[in-house]
Amino acid sequence: MHSEALPLTSHEIPGSASRVALGPRAVLLRAFARDRGPELVTAIGAAAEISPFRHMVTPGGWRMSVALTNCGYVGWLTDRSGYRYDTIDPMTGRAWPAIPRLFADLAVEAAEAAGFSAFHPDACLVNRYAPGARLSLHQDRNERDFDQPIVSVSLGLPAIFLWGGMKRADKTQRVPLTHGDVMVWGGPDRLRFHGVHHLADGKHPLTGAYRFNFTFRRAL
Ligand code: SIN
Ligand code: FE2
Repeated sequence: MHSEALPLTSHEIPGSASRVALGPRAVLLRAFARDRGPELVTAIGAAAEISPFRHMVTPGGWRMSVALTNCGYVGWLTDRSGYRYDTIDPMTGRAWPAIPRLFADLAVEAAEAAGFSAFHPDACLVNRYAPGARLSLHQDRNERDFDQPIVSVSLGLPAIFLWGGMKRADKTQRVPLTHGDVMVWGGPDRLRFHGVHHLADGKHPLTGAYRFNFTFRRAL
């Protein structure tokens, strides 16, 4: 895989977090969620008491190194029969926990800050990375309406986000993501390939030896 360093040319918007454009409709809002970090981590813990983190299996039979859970009307799943959204958590046989108000407000505010004014997420996939975990290049394409953006929030340990093009083989940029960073991508960038490099060892004051990422989507 080819990669190149991201040019560090962010500029400060008065009264807001710094922004880095990663495409015509893709933006990294640095530290956008940082002040809400403690409450967000608490809310993840509460959701995980209802629907615990688990390692799912890909359709090809590989156990994912990332552990995941969901909140929202529907949750994203993978098993031997494919990738999909479902209203029922297969581990508990019950509905997924609701998207906490704090999460929903953040998602809508970040989408707005990125120029997407009518974002109504019905799904929130929560990923948990321990050192060594990675996410291979993929597109988010199990959703019905590609006019709605993806809003992706990073908490805890830093990671290298791999930001690719429309084809899997396209060159990827390495984008360092740290605690509180929010990425939003939509429009012509909605189907860009992306992934996460192996998480490095570390300890974060709020999350210990983990990175959490949650992505809001409009699935149905
Ligand atoms: C994802 O693509 O679902 C997760 C991205 C991330 O962990 O930053
Ligand atoms: Fe994704």
